[in-house]
Amino acid sequence: MSKADLANILSVDAVEEINVWIKKYPSNRKRSAIIPALTIAQEELGYLATKTMDAVADYLEIPHIAAYEVATFYSMFALEPQGKHVISLCTNVSCMLAGSEELKQWFHDELGITPGETSDDGRITLKEVECLAACGGAPMLEVDKQYHENLDVTKLAHLIKELP
Ligand code: FES
Repeated sequence: MSKADLANILSVDAVEEINVWIKKYPSNRKRSAIIPALTIAQEELGYLATKTMDAVADYLEIPHIAAYEVATFYSMFALEPQGKHVISLCTNVSCMLAGSEELKQWFHDELGITPGETSDDGRITLKEVECLAACGGAPMLEVDKQYHENLDVTKLAHLIKELP
């Protein structure tokens, strides 16, 4: 693939935004822009299809596998279509001790989903993630890009109900 292929997948604005990131690094270190480039692509397309990761990798002049490695390592990247709202539930130690398992069970009982799944109505995608560095507010989760802390099942039910 060539730059033209990335331009066929993303908007002009998105490609320009990636170019801004590329320019922050030496010309022989374009690969340093891989995380923002994948982030920009995901924000525009909703998730990272293989052809999207390939096009980003080609644009940065790195092997396709290098893009796959980054996209599969970080929990903020999605390799499949997501629901309208993406919920990242922390189940690391502090959150687990404070009740994250009950929150996870609520998603199963009320929405019929477990981590990695999307509700039948396409409204909610649930992800299970490692510590989001908000342990003082455990248990917590992230809805889209906003943190919600000190949760219990009652607060969670209200939070999900109020989502547009
Ligand atoms: S353990 Fe959940 S935010 Fe740190």
